[in-house]
Amino acid sequence: MSDRSLPIGAVRPRRLRQSAAMRRLTSETKLQPEDLIEVLFVKEGLEAPVELTSMPGVRQHTLDSLVEAAERAVEAGVGGIMLFGIPLEYDERGSQADDPNGILNVAVRRVKDAVGDRTVVMTDLCLDEFTSHGHCGVLDEHGDVDNDATLERYASIAVAQARAGSDVLGLSGMMDGQVGAVREALDEAGFTNTVIMAYTAKYASAFYGPFREAVDSQLSGDRRTYQQDPANAREALHELQLDLAEGADIVMVKPGLPYLDILKDVAEASPVPVWSYQISGEYAMLEFASAAGAIDRKPAVLESLLAFKRAGADAVMTYYATQAAEWLNEQ
Ligand code: PBG
Repeated sequence: MSDRSLPIGAVRPRRLRQSAAMRRLTSETKLQPEDLIEVLFVKEGLEAPVELTSMPGVRQHTLDSLVEAAERAVEAGVGGIMLFGIPLEYDERGSQADDPNGILNVAVRRVKDAVGDRTVVMTDLCLDEFTSHGHCGVLDEHGDVDNDATLERYASIAVAQARAGSDVLGLSGMMDGQVGAVREALDEAGFTNTVIMAYTAKYASAFYGPFREAVDSQLSGDRRTYQQDPANAREALHELQLDLAEGADIVMVKPGLPYLDILKDVAEASPVPVWSYQISGEYAMLEFASAAGAIDRKPAVLESLLAFKRAGADAVMTYYATQAAEWLNEQ
């Protein structure tokens, strides 16, 4: 034994890294197509899909191209599809959100007709895509977001989306009491099987930037009176307790990579499934960095998605879902 080598009987963690087969057998975390939820945008009145400049590769779909994208996602084996709708007309109360002929409600009917029960079809339940001021709720006479008046709107939107066939409602508005209000309205209308996925810890993040282009956002100002302060971890667990007490079936932490500590805290505490959302700014960073040749796109994307699972996410909403599922199927 030379002076520089480890003693006989030494612990050598590298043994389990020596070959691809050994690494595969000993890896703790697996990423599979069904862990991924595709996020799709549909815009009313489009004649052709529109590419988003801030999210290369992501588009605002027509109803027809949406159905094609949904079919491709199902073919790739994704766990689910989350739909966001962009109307042509906005007003103060976001009337298009609960209009049965509003774009999102039409879209979910079309997608459900096409894919049936081959995957789980979900809808974003919020007002910001539909209001003329771009806030996630209705405003009071001072221009502040009126929590309890907003709950009435969410309750009505929930019933409209359930009636249109949505399997899971994604409550992304961060109003207090939203899960309870929506559960009660769904149950009263007979939709006891409609699943509530609550955005439990949703932070007021600068990384939502590109999404605002994706949904033609009308917002000026910010959402800091309803979304959480990025400085705070503890209140995520408070929000978790409240959402569970109100009947959330699934809880969500958002954004993703900058908030993996929060994801881990919530995953350790939650008795229900925990999802996370790789949001638009995270997507844009990966896309622009790989386009500039700074990182290798495919391994970087797959590593980023694996990180969510390692931190405790049961599923990940991501603009890469179909693409990543196709890559995983090739391996
Ligand atoms: C609000 C909502 C937002 C996102 C999803 N739902 C924007 C916001 O809170 O400002 C952002 C998603 C993303 O950035 O990819 N209904």
